[in-house]
Amino acid sequence: MSNGAQTLLEQHLKAYIHANGPISTRAFMEACLYDPEHGYYRAGNPIGADGDFITAPEISQMFGEMIGIWSVLTWQVMGQPMPLQLIELGPGRGTLMSDVLRCLSQLHPHFEVISVHMVERSVNLRAAQMAKLEPFSTPIQWYENLSDVPHGPSLLIANEFLDCLPVRQFVKTDQAWHERVVSLDEAGKFCFAVGEQMPKGMIVPERFVEAGPGSIFEFCPDFEGIVKTLHHLAQKYPFAGLFIDYGFEGPALGETLQALHRHKMVSPFIQPGEVDLTAHVDFTALAALCVAHGLKAYGPKDQGAFLSQLGIGERAQKLVDNATELQAETLIKDVVRLVAPEQMGSLFKVMSITSSGMAVPPPFDQRIEASHVSSTN
Ligand SMILES: C[S@@+](CC[C@H](N)C(=O)[O-])C[C@H]1O[C@@H](n2cnc3c(N)ncnc32)[C@H](O)[C@@H]1O
Repeated sequence: MSNGAQTLLEQHLKAYIHANGPISTRAFMEACLYDPEHGYYRAGNPIGADGDFITAPEISQMFGEMIGIWSVLTWQVMGQPMPLQLIELGPGRGTLMSDVLRCLSQLHPHFEVISVHMVERSVNLRAAQMAKLEPFSTPIQWYENLSDVPHGPSLLIANEFLDCLPVRQFVKTDQAWHERVVSLDEAGKFCFAVGEQMPKGMIVPERFVEAGPGSIFEFCPDFEGIVKTLHHLAQKYPFAGLFIDYGFEGPALGETLQALHRHKMVSPFIQPGEVDLTAHVDFTALAALCVAHGLKAYGPKDQGAFLSQLGIGERAQKLVDNATELQAETLIKDVVRLVAPEQMGSLFKVMSITSSGMAVPPPFDQRIEASHVSSTN
């Protein structure tokens, strides 16, 4: 955070609220993350030790290798359609795709039929991805939106992408649920406030009608557009996607909107456009949309179980066998960080979404049935 002075985005947002009244939490998050000039994902380099947060692929190559193994196995389950599109949503520094491609090139005899499709909004991160993937001769294309990716047999991976998408928040008063909005207090500082009342049963599930005053419910409107696009992609061609994120099985009450700066939690109102804003993923809401659009959904499975079932323990042992004592210590620390329930193993969850005609992707078993997700309302 620079010097505590107001960012230009903060000045713009305050002037807007002053002139037009409060804005929804979603509109605030949208501006902070994606404002064309000053949004967090338009400038900056957020990932890594010198950024604001670190992600699983940046912790260890073993994470990407397990996603590579998942890709090989799932491609087989699809019946090995060729050519194959490998799509990544929010590819960060390109590390995950680089590890997946390395793994696929070693494990699959038809590696040359793969094309890569990166959906990325950040100009700086696109440049980092290009540099990282330079050693591969695989054809690679970049897109602003998932809907721009051509249709064809596809595997899709997305690690910590869904949590970037802005959420609407609703707050319960004594009587009813209302939109939660961002306003200005008497000192001209950002504050949360209670906005328009919501019609009963709309968005906030009926079961929360008796929730106590001050309760919060979050909802991500962008899931629907993503699922519709996946549905179009999967209508004519085999499709399997893997979404990994910190999230929960909903519906649930509680605020998960959080702000990170230099690996520390801060207020979401501090330095708009310069801190990372995220919200936990409601995997049940995502699954319900998939089922409603004729896609199959599996999971969510804990990241620890997912990686272990794909063989991260065995892979770590192999690397340790050929490592120095110091390297072995780091390898063990990293694998524990990825799988241990008290670290990333339980907080992070994995969901797979496939086209309707596809068999079960590994290492999932039980598919989510319509009756399960619709009974949650
Ligand atoms: C938290 S980072 C995760 C990066 C990477 N997947 C990893 O695991 O290291 C989020 C990524 O999604 C990108 N991103 C965020 N919102 C996006 C959007 N709406 N469309 C496309 N990319 C987006 C960011 O620029 C960044 O590359």
